Amino acid sequence: MRIVLSLLALLPFTLHAANAAPSSTPAIAPEPHPLIIAHRGASGYLPEHTLASYALAVLQGADYIEPDLVMTRDGQLVARHDNELGMTTDVANRPEFAARKRTQVVDGESLSGWFSEDFTLAELKTLRAIERIPATRPGNARLDGSLQIPTLQEIIDLVQALQTSQGRPIGLYIETKHPTHFQSLNLAMEKPLVEILSRNGYDRAEAPVYIQSFEVDNLKALSQLTPLRLVQLLWVKGQPYDQQQRGTSLDYAQMTSAEGLKAIAQYAAGVGPEKSQVIAPDASGKLGTPSNLVRDAHAAGLKVHPYTFRAENQFLPAALRSSANDRERGDIEAELRAFLAAGIDGVFIDQPDIAVRLRDAR
Ligand code: G3P
Ligand code: CA
Repeated sequence: MRIVLSLLALLPFTLHAANAAPSSTPAIAPEPHPLIIAHRGASGYLPEHTLASYALAVLQGADYIEPDLVMTRDGQLVARHDNELGMTTDVANRPEFAARKRTQVVDGESLSGWFSEDFTLAELKTLRAIERIPATRPGNARLDGSLQIPTLQEIIDLVQALQTSQGRPIGLYIETKHPTHFQSLNLAMEKPLVEILSRNGYDRAEAPVYIQSFEVDNLKALSQLTPLRLVQLLWVKGQPYDQQQRGTSLDYAQMTSAEGLKAIAQYAAGVGPEKSQVIAPDASGKLGTPSNLVRDAHAAGLKVHPYTFRAENQFLPAALRSSANDRERGDIEAELRAFLAAGIDGVFIDQPDIAVRLRDAR
């Protein structure tokens, strides 16, 4: 923790330095294998989607950090997993925003809370991050109230500052959250995202950026706006929300078939499946035989970056748990080894240091 607090103290300096003399974006060499993507930062150690969490991930050796992005009322891109802010900020304890609480349908589901699209960036900056799963990650919760919601530009400045000091490329693996919802509010995120990335030198296919989405049409639109690499996220059931809205029959099962993956390869460089789509646990809780997904995706020319690897027992197949205590660590290394043997190209992981150690030992 001392290293993180020291780093936090340096952030104003590093961000100023990055703003004063932005580093050029180095061309990406052949990617490390497996690619280690810090899921919401080093979110196993610090509250997700904060500059501290991203910085710690980089210092732990992650290749990419993963900001999920939502829009503010004034059209700014900020890092949150959800447009509903109550789960990961202290907004519920702010009397000045009590009247902003409301209920609305987001991606087909009724949600009550406080929504990013109802707040200006200046208002969001007065909020502080809190831990999403404090019972599982009580250490993270000790920093509740300490850290701000970062903008995409602040994240880029952090990455470019650390890229210089670490002497290696550090990538951005950006997810567009709720794209159809924000389009319906006249807050479409695709153009502002491409513009801010381009302004910061991320405008070539070789740039260390992936843009991901659970929806289809916004990725297809992005493929016309930018040469940056795109990743189609997959899910175990149902339809992408944009396809539901348009009334098409395209669903995740079709998208995960050999033909579906070939279609994805027309606009994307990779897929991000839920990890059980690559290897599902069998009835005894052991990791079973891999599906055909990696083989079929590779045949289509797609990378495969499954999500989400987490070290705590509750997120592991039963056979790899160390005890009945949900928040203790289990044998995530065995899980990672099984997925690597199945041929995956990268991992989204909450504890990137574990994957880095495993990769270094190979
Ligand atoms: O983006 C990959 C993975 O992060 C998708 O899941 O819900 O954590 O954004 P989520
Ligand atoms: Ca994500």
